Amino acid sequence: MNKPANLPESRLSQGAAGRAVTHESAHLHVSGEATYIDDVPELQGTLYAALGMSQQAHARILSIDLSEVLAAPGVVAVLTAADIPGANDCGPIVHDDPILAEGVVQYIGQPIFAVIADTYHAARRAARLGSIAYEALPAILTPEQAKQQGAFLFPPLHLRRGEAEQAIGGAEHRLKGEFSIGGQEQFYLEGQISYAMPKEDNGMHVLCSTQHPTEMQNLIAHCLNLPNHQVKVEIRRMGGAFGGKESQSGLFACVAALAAARLKRPVKVRLDRDDDMMITGKRHCFNYEYEAGFEPDGLIRGVTVEMCSRGGFSTDLSGPVATRALCHFDNAYFLSDVDIRSMAGKTNTQSNTAFRGFGAPQGAIAIEYIIDDIARELGLDPLDVRKRNFYGKLERNITPYGMTVEDNVIHELVAELEQTSDYRARRQAVLAFNQDNAVLKKGLALTPLKFGISFNVVHFNQAGALVHIYTDGSVLVNHGGTEMGQGLNTKIAQIVANELGIDLSWVRSTATDTSKVPNTSATAASSGTDLNGKAAQDAARQIKVRLSQMLVDRYGGTLDDVSYADNQACLHEHRLSWPDLVRTAYERRVQLWSDGFYATPKLNWDRETLKGRPFFYFSYGAAVSEVQIDSLTGEWKLLRVDVLHDAGKSINPALDIGQVEGAFIQAMGWLTTEELWWNNAGKLMTHAPSTYKIPAVNDCPDDFNVKLFNNRNAEDTIFRSKAVGEPPMLLAFSVFFALRDAIASVAQYTLNPPLNGPATSERILQAITAIRGLQ
Ligand code: MTE
Ligand code: HPA
Ligand code: MOS
Repeated sequence: MNKPANLPESRLSQGAAGRAVTHESAHLHVSGEATYIDDVPELQGTLYAALGMSQQAHARILSIDLSEVLAAPGVVAVLTAADIPGANDCGPIVHDDPILAEGVVQYIGQPIFAVIADTYHAARRAARLGSIAYEALPAILTPEQAKQQGAFLFPPLHLRRGEAEQAIGGAEHRLKGEFSIGGQEQFYLEGQISYAMPKEDNGMHVLCSTQHPTEMQNLIAHCLNLPNHQVKVEIRRMGGAFGGKESQSGLFACVAALAAARLKRPVKVRLDRDDDMMITGKRHCFNYEYEAGFEPDGLIRGVTVEMCSRGGFSTDLSGPVATRALCHFDNAYFLSDVDIRSMAGKTNTQSNTAFRGFGAPQGAIAIEYIIDDIARELGLDPLDVRKRNFYGKLERNITPYGMTVEDNVIHELVAELEQTSDYRARRQAVLAFNQDNAVLKKGLALTPLKFGISFNVVHFNQAGALVHIYTDGSVLVNHGGTEMGQGLNTKIAQIVANELGIDLSWVRSTATDTSKVPNTSATAASSGTDLNGKAAQDAARQIKVRLSQMLVDRYGGTLDDVSYADNQACLHEHRLSWPDLVRTAYERRVQLWSDGFYATPKLNWDRETLKGRPFFYFSYGAAVSEVQIDSLTGEWKLLRVDVLHDAGKSINPALDIGQVEGAFIQAMGWLTTEELWWNNAGKLMTHAPSTYKIPAVNDCPDDFNVKLFNNRNAEDTIFRSKAVGEPPMLLAFSVFFALRDAIASVAQYTLNPPLNGPATSERILQAITAIRGLQ
């Protein structure tokens, strides 16, 4: 693995930004001293809530008898929907998401009542004693069933350019097929948790592990019938979120706040891992049906695709996820004639939600699958078919949704990786190995990515910040973003330090707090640094203007003559150290703090026509993976990975490489070992690490070469950096297609192996069996 220290100095800019500094909490993470919500010392009188869950996938509730629950040791109260003074709803967009089920239940695991007890275990034990009578209703459990029955969460999205069917008909070759890719549990190490503390005059203070404090504030206020200014939501850090705490933290925040308001006691809701997996939504699994027409050189003439996801019982974020899937079906390829349908089936399962990539991985993997098919059909190297279809720089550069790709670096990025990874020679070596080995088979794949950066809801692309300079020169920055391990607070502190020309040690980022910066967007869509970094820079610049004015008033010159670097301000021959400057400013009654704001420019999006410019810019990347499978057992090993990823002009190469490596391994888990399995009654049976296999340290390749592409953002982003949180998820496509390549070798690459995701050993073996002997 790359060490940040190995990065060439030329890639680092001056000042605190651009440096591979360690995460601001690294010393706390590794020593166990970082405070997560469950580590906050509890107030006297704290109570604990647990949830009673539905045992039926779809049923009318005939009666609820909670007498045994109430009688259980330690129980203080039991709450149902009837106890909610305001709205019984925690849906982020559509109001179809009850906090506690009322009248009907819609999935196994749906919370029906909350039991509040004087210990955590007493609450959990009592939550199992509810006696609920149901009348079963027909349940829809899979996206296929939903599609058959026309059960969608919203009208299917349809984007069309040119004449796809005609283009397919006119092409020399055609193929059609279908496949599916499974969902994924976020598996944040810190489970969902909220700690609500009632305050005077009906106020409510909630510590909530959430990516979206403002949304939590709104939901709690609605549920308790309070104005927003009575509710304060705070989060110092999450132990991971990965999209699973964008909307889905809402139910637990509301239950904690509801119980705290009713009982006038502090109440904590902390989910056990199994309950967390049974209750909360995951990445959407998708089914795809496609048809493509193409030429002998691999050029795609026309393509149609229908993608149907498992939405779950409520809308949640399934709409924006379907939109992002639709806007990423093109990935790095120009598709002249294309017809894309994207829909979310309403199923009686957990309500699926955001997960790193937010539909983009699911959209883009479809075109990669199609290209993989085309290459095998034509007997070409898939890399050549990919390159044949890349977006052009000056032509063939408009996406199906009408946005011009202006910052395309995919050609040079892939060319560099092809060379540094020794792709062509290794392709020959793999073919030779497979000739010589009957049982062990190797596979190789290089896959590219292009990822659009911005929320696909335009007005979410705004942020605010506060910068305070205290009289001792120390600086506190607060902003609307949340820290979930990705290093946002480190980058924001670097940005402020860089702007003020001072060492990073002067600056500290504080907990996100709805009473400091209001009306924030979720820290999501990878845009945390882009948005909040610009807002923090704006705040720091406003203070600088005041400081400069003070110096100009004293020494003459203009504002532009003042510079800030190396912990001092300079104006002509005058130099003031940072502490002197700050002290002088205070004594001269200059305001030493400021707010800042940012709204991403250039965006427009028409939700009806699905056209516009939904993204400020694109991130790019590519990866080469080499795998070895055992064709008798389906077991496999990832031998080597080479990644080249575009983070623009990186603000912190150490953090960015960490994000790339983390996303790669996380997506590898999604595409290989992480299998969600519901039984025929609709019960999720893989609800703990015993049955749900996330990657471990020894699943990482021994040879893992991750490099950042030498680039700067063509758009005016913060210090010309690019967002990095989600895009590298797509890099792990290379693992999936390397596996498919290895499988195809058992039939001399003449057949397209029917491989669905996750490509578990079992599925790999099934695919081998399916094609063996057919050729
Ligand atoms: N990295 C860590 N360590 N933990 C996380 O939960 N979430 C990812 C990504 N990287 C996540 C992470 C997701 S889903 C997103 S959208 C971004 O971080 C959000 O943070 P950013 O916008 O600051 O990159
Ligand atoms: N990503 C994450 N969350 C979102 C998005 C997005 O693109 N759009 C709306 N909510
Ligand atoms: Mo990330 S899925 O946008 O929280």
